[in-house]
Amino acid sequence: MDEDAAPKVFLEDRQHYMFVMEYGEGGVTWKEMLMKGRVEPSTTYRVAHILAKLHTNSRGLEWVREEFSEATNFHQLRIDPYILHTLRKHPDIAGQLHEIADILQTRKMCLVHGDYSPKNILHLSDGRLWVLDCEPAHYGHPSFDIAFCANHLLLKSIHFNDPVYLREARRLWTEYWRGVDLDGKSVLEREAAMILSALMLARVDGKSPVEYLSEENRARTRLLAKKIIRDRVDSFEELSSRVEEEIRCENI
Ligand SMILES: Nc1ncnc2c1ncn2[C@@H]1O[C@H](COP(=O)(O)OP(=O)(O)OP(=O)(O)O)[C@@H](O)[C@H]1O
Ligand SMILES: [Mg+2]
Repeated sequence: MDEDAAPKVFLEDRQHYMFVMEYGEGGVTWKEMLMKGRVEPSTTYRVAHILAKLHTNSRGLEWVREEFSEATNFHQLRIDPYILHTLRKHPDIAGQLHEIADILQTRKMCLVHGDYSPKNILHLSDGRLWVLDCEPAHYGHPSFDIAFCANHLLLKSIHFNDPVYLREARRLWTEYWRGVDLDGKSVLEREAAMILSALMLARVDGKSPVEYLSEENRARTRLLAKKIIRDRVDSFEELSSRVEEEIRCENI
């Protein structure tokens, strides 16, 4: 991982699950920036490249595999509340969602952050970005992180009816896939698009819905995501065009 992209750990007490880390004075989360309309391509670019580096540098490393083999947290915090809870509410697309849950749990390639979202990325006053809060980190499927993060930008484009967030989602996606070095990238990218469609629905009907979507926007997102899942869309280009169309219709 990029040394500059996380607070330094000064002390740790493993026995009592405690540690002391560097404090980022004046830090603002990327989520706060985005919600206030502060959308900076350079930040998105850096977010993409930090993630690409994390995945590339940890791929296939035996010690990382051993240290992060425990995926219970990921199952309890992500697979169950996001995917399995959602599929119980939508039996008509349960088959597709089961497939996505299986993909996520079978492919094990590199260190996955597990909560790579704008609220866990801190923008420091000197311009650096820090990645925080890796509770569900595990050795697993890289596509989860990029799908999870891109989903936040897509949901904000629906919330604000503003294509500027969609533009950043596309930038994040393109830069990540350009920067990451993994075997079978084209398959991983298709799987990432499918994971993204499941997460879109999960952030409406899973156990941890995003707090900012209005009832009306939840309904729009639900319809849109279900159609994408039902059509088994596995291309980000196609998926993002459908979101764009949705925003355009709303703005007419
Ligand atoms: N090293 C740090 N320096 C400065 N601020 C920090 C640091 N670590 C965490 N924070 C602040 O505390 C907030 C919560 O931290 P973190 O995400 O690690 O905890 P959390 O309990 O999981 O919170 P949440 O559930 O909101 O994600 C961050 O969004 C950030 O604003
Ligand atoms: Mg957090």
